[in-house]
Amino acid sequence: MKNFVNIDDVDDYKSLLKEVMDLKIKTLAHKEIGLNKTLGLIFFNSSLRTRLSTVKAAKMLGMETISMNFDSEGWKLEFEEKTIMSKNSAEHVKEAAKVISTYCDVIGIRAFAGLKNKIEDERETILNSFLKYGSVPIVNMESSCAHPLQSLADAATIEENKKHLRPKVVLSWAPHPKSLPHAVANSFVRMCKKNKYNLVITNPKGYDLDPKITQGVEILNDQEKAFKNADFVYAKNWSSYSNYGKVLTKSAKWMINKNKMKLTNNAKFMHCLPVRRNVVVEDNVLDSKNSLVIEQANNRTYAAMAVLKKILQNEG
Ligand code: CP
Repeated sequence: MKNFVNIDDVDDYKSLLKEVMDLKIKTLAHKEIGLNKTLGLIFFNSSLRTRLSTVKAAKMLGMETISMNFDSEGWKLEFEEKTIMSKNSAEHVKEAAKVISTYCDVIGIRAFAGLKNKIEDERETILNSFLKYGSVPIVNMESSCAHPLQSLADAATIEENKKHLRPKVVLSWAPHPKSLPHAVANSFVRMCKKNKYNLVITNPKGYDLDPKITQGVEILNDQEKAFKNADFVYAKNWSSYSNYGKVLTKSAKWMINKNKMKLTNNAKFMHCLPVRRNVVVEDNVLDSKNSLVIEQANNRTYAAMAVLKKILQNEG
């Protein structure tokens, strides 16, 4: 694997998923693959899980890690080509990506959507600039439109807990006070399609995700109807895609609660975290034995290990 930017870039997703599950069992079986290699972690946004799980993954493969919070610690970057840098930007990404590539063998980038301009966000300027100017493999640690490491960990979590081949998986929009990106939901939908799960999305009117990604997936505006016989309920907030970046409703009617979970086939509850308690989901669901959120976060380590291993071995 050259880069891990989107799950559609992976030649053999099934083999990558199997690698995640294998590494969870034989965690230290490959502790020398990354010896004398360095993973650089570049953050333009906050993180708990991605940062710590990816560092842990690298260390378990024998890699060294270096990291930087670029927004607070780096020079202000310029991304425009052929621009006169007479204003605030002190360094062009052209040099920055090339310089970081001299220090690192793999670079992870986290750069969220700005949620102001759909075209700009879909251009994935930061991620694509590092792909263009960097000279080492790039791992997407959540970009404007995708969070493939999260969806790989989610896939492993579903595989570990599913009771039949094609479980019914419901991706449910849930309320949130702030405008949030579409990256997690987008990658979750792509992953469910790849794994041929019986996916249903439920969201209020005005919150349909990018139709290019959800093509062929049932979308219901009736959350309770969607929950019927679900095996997994994955809660996530995202801002409007059609009315780009806007929060159209914060209605608590969409919060995941115990009564809605009773409509399901004793479904497991999933969320990528961080989660706002009693806004997105009630305590009694999040704290229930059916909640998989901590295992999802745990699986982030093995997902990152699998990706780094495939990159280090240059396997598909
Ligand atoms: N789920 C996830 O990516 O968590 P962090 O934002 O804390 O990394």
